[in-house]
Amino acid sequence: MATRIGWIGLGRMGEAMVKRLLKAGHAVSVWNRTRSKAEPLAEYGAGIARSKLDLAACDVVFTMVSTTDDLKEVLFAEGGLVTGERKPQVVVDSSSISQEGSAEIRERLEALGVAYLCAPVSGNAKVAKAGKLLIVASGPKDLYEKAQPYLQAMGRKAMWVGEGELARIWKIAHNTMFGVVIQNLCEITVLAEKAGIPRHVFLESINDSVLGSMYTKYKTPMLTNLTFDQVTFTPKLLLKDMDLGMGAARAYGVAMPAAAATRESVSRLVGRGHDHIDFAVLLVEMAKDAGLELTPDNVPMADGLES
Ligand SMILES: NC(=O)c1ccc[n+]([C@@H]2O[C@H](COP(=O)([O-])OP(=O)(O)OC[C@H]3O[C@@H](n4cnc5c(N)ncnc54)[C@H](OP(=O)(O)O)[C@@H]3O)[C@@H](O)[C@H]2O)c1
Repeated sequence: MATRIGWIGLGRMGEAMVKRLLKAGHAVSVWNRTRSKAEPLAEYGAGIARSKLDLAACDVVFTMVSTTDDLKEVLFAEGGLVTGERKPQVVVDSSSISQEGSAEIRERLEALGVAYLCAPVSGNAKVAKAGKLLIVASGPKDLYEKAQPYLQAMGRKAMWVGEGELARIWKIAHNTMFGVVIQNLCEITVLAEKAGIPRHVFLESINDSVLGSMYTKYKTPMLTNLTFDQVTFTPKLLLKDMDLGMGAARAYGVAMPAAAATRESVSRLVGRGHDHIDFAVLLVEMAKDAGLELTPDNVPMADGLES
């Protein structure tokens, strides 16, 4: 694969991921809708593109935006990446989007002679910054193999799960569990605290039990100290993913009762106006439902990424 790389989307994830590419020595030109988020990357060696079309001269362009519609917009709407004479050879998208939206995007890109790889990720921006993302790809296998050096630069492991949009289903399944786990973790933490176990003690015990995971560990500092302003992922993005999960469940005829209940709980969180705040604020809402007013435990903690 050639060396001219473009990047669209410098939110929490995009910024952390592109810094890994730059750190690995790749030359990358970046574009973000809000330009002020792109400019600081010049310090890390990135070229700052004036428009998406400027990136059409790249061989491969990575995208990391919010939703299916946002990806369509940056690619195909006026001034979109593939709307000019010149087109990139490859688009690699890591956004969490729907399977059917991704299939439509593939069809449109391939009709224009642009190859397309789905490469959604597991891990938040801190995980990305630490080089610990898991990247799961689908699309033509030879394309995946050519993209390997870039994917490896951004994560601890890259995997190929098959042709077409299969990686979208992988990510949808992954984030459905992500939602269900935080929902249940919040429920049982409230139960334990209301019954008298200090929150940080309870979470420490869960993390040390067979049920503890990398996820429960890295959410623990925030759940303990109620630092929801240190946003990793918003309730709105989680609701998008729970909706993608419920849509896929309908499409494939799979009952997902735990995911359905979690979807409603996250929807309530969004309805209450919690946005520029971390989705772990779910804990506070669950506590309120139980008549419990939470206060920070103020226990100093590492970021939970060490294991
Ligand atoms: N955060 C996580 O832990 C995490 C983990 C894995 C996967 N994901 C997925 O990764 C994607 C990005 O998440 P994030 O947390 O990085 O979100 P974010 O911080 O909200 O960033 C979203 C990015 O998309 C851009 N964008 C959105 N709509 C756009 C549009 N219509 N046109 C142009 N640019 C647009 C934003 O540009 P502006 O800066 O101009 O708003 C920003 O660069 C989402 O699909 C999310 O579900 C997130």
